[in-house]
Amino acid sequence: MTEVLVVAGPAAAGEYVADILARAIQTDPETVLGLATGSTPLPIYAALAERVRTEGIDVSSVSGFALDEYVGIDPAHEQSYHHVIDAEVTQTLGLNPERVHVPSGNPDTLESAGAAYEEAIRAAGGVGWQILGIGANGHIGFNEPGSPIDSLTRQVPLTEQTRQDNARFFDSIDDVPRHAITQGVGTILRAGHLFLLAFGEHKADAVARAINGPVSPEIPASAIQQHPNVTVLLDAAAASGL
Ligand code: GLP
Repeated sequence: MTEVLVVAGPAAAGEYVADILARAIQTDPETVLGLATGSTPLPIYAALAERVRTEGIDVSSVSGFALDEYVGIDPAHEQSYHHVIDAEVTQTLGLNPERVHVPSGNPDTLESAGAAYEEAIRAAGGVGWQILGIGANGHIGFNEPGSPIDSLTRQVPLTEQTRQDNARFFDSIDDVPRHAITQGVGTILRAGHLFLLAFGEHKADAVARAINGPVSPEIPASAIQQHPNVTVLLDAAAASGL
């Protein structure tokens, strides 16, 4: 079932999800989180970090699996998702870095990196709670339009729109990588529960097509309709096309 909640804004959405995750971790210290980058999930990490701190929640056995990484970017680069996840999630929440995984964007090992990542998720018992943002073109992770519903972790080309959307994080559009490695749509659908968050008018069209449109590889986020446990959290602007 897809539950759609329209909330006051990013902070309220962050509190809502963090509350569920805090309770999940208290119930199961080995909770496995599916981690998204981008600006959208930041309020979740901030709110969860606050709960961890004020309630003394033990997160030492929590694992995390990031959705994606750019190909050919140095993991130490400020905009690599290795770096972003480390700064915004691992350190903020105080997770054990050895339990936080990001797919490898090393061009030399791309052939095997997808299968290795799938195996690491499986070995951890699968992702329990997957956090998702959505691209303006309906992508989830870096599954661009055309991504098969049953796709697994693999290398993908980035669309011009996504490169332009993400250019703000780089010195120039020429510095934005052209490929990424991403969990597939099928990988994402294996998680126990999905949280998809979107804020702002520029996401309204993608949100409407993801929730009300046909399930189609053209809008990879529409695949969430096939998942039994989904919570979509929107502000009024992102919900304006529903
Ligand atoms: C990137 C990430 C996605 C994210 C999207 C939206 O493309 N790979 O996982 O959902 O950006 O980013 P934002 O939340 O900043 O709008």
